[in-house]
Amino acid sequence: MSENKQSTRLHPTRIDIPAEARSQIIAVLNQTLAASLDLKTQTKQAHWNVKGKDFFQLHEMFDEIAGELEEFIDMFAERITALAGYAYGTARMAAANSILPEYPVDILEGMDHVTALADRFAPYAKHLREAIDKTDELGDADTADLYTEVSRTIDKRLWFLEAHLQVSEMKGENGSGNGGTATAKTPEKAGVR
Ligand SMILES: [Fe+2]
Repeated sequence: MSENKQSTRLHPTRIDIPAEARSQIIAVLNQTLAASLDLKTQTKQAHWNVKGKDFFQLHEMFDEIAGELEEFIDMFAERITALAGYAYGTARMAAANSILPEYPVDILEGMDHVTALADRFAPYAKHLREAIDKTDELGDADTADLYTEVSRTIDKRLWFLEAHLQVSEMKGENGSGNGGTATAKTPEKAGVR
């Protein structure tokens, strides 16, 4: 997990979690907030721009996922403020602090959008899982529980995305079927699994 580029600002509070721990927890939460905002807008990008024979079901699924991310964004931002921290939540703040790569603009077909999103949901899921342990170690079971809840849903969404890709990946085919994907190699092709 890379370091947060934004300073942690603490307001006066009566909460019993020590300031030193809170400032580290808030830094992690702000990194998550940035990644979540980034991923939500990228998912909307897919919702708007997807083309092809699977247009309608993917258009709908991407919107449902973006809606979930919107709820998580509010939960993470309000956990920051509950800990008397400052939430960095504008588009520019998110872009400056996101751990995710920018969304490719040269893709159209459905499976290329699914692949691009799966390539981003996977590192986001990894970040959430690391944050469960980190916030737990810092003595904040409530934030760890929030991360656990979101992590479970994101793992499910990664499954939904990958379920579209796994048959062609197992056959060693390109997900788009047209050889035109601009996204990363599949895990199998990259020798990860
Ligand atoms: Fe829409």
